[in-house]
Amino acid sequence: MTHNDNMQWIKIAEHVNEIHFNTSGLAEWSGAGKKLCIIKHGEEIHACTAKCPHAGGKMAEGYLDALGQLVCPLHRYKFNITNGRNLSGEGYYLKIFPVEIREEGIFVSI
Ligand code: FES
Repeated sequence: MTHNDNMQWIKIAEHVNEIHFNTSGLAEWSGAGKKLCIIKHGEEIHACTAKCPHAGGKMAEGYLDALGQLVCPLHRYKFNITNGRNLSGEGYYLKIFPVEIREEGIFVSI
């Protein structure tokens, strides 16, 4: 990820154990006027907008498929959780936010 001066890092949790992931490894987080979907994929944490760019499906109610793609619960569009690329439809990109796991907590750049 490229870093620039406009990035604002927000602490979303003290520790990953504090985030209430569902059995799909997804959790919705809101704060700082934003709603995000937090994704736990193995040891990695990713973050994206809470709503699907297609028609507003709640991404935290979707699931990760066997390839680690985030599947929207509404129409099952699949998104790459690293770059937001839509793998099953044209023209929709899921906004992905950089995540850093630091000693002081879990931070997302929004
Ligand atoms: S709202 Fe997500 S695929 Fe349609």
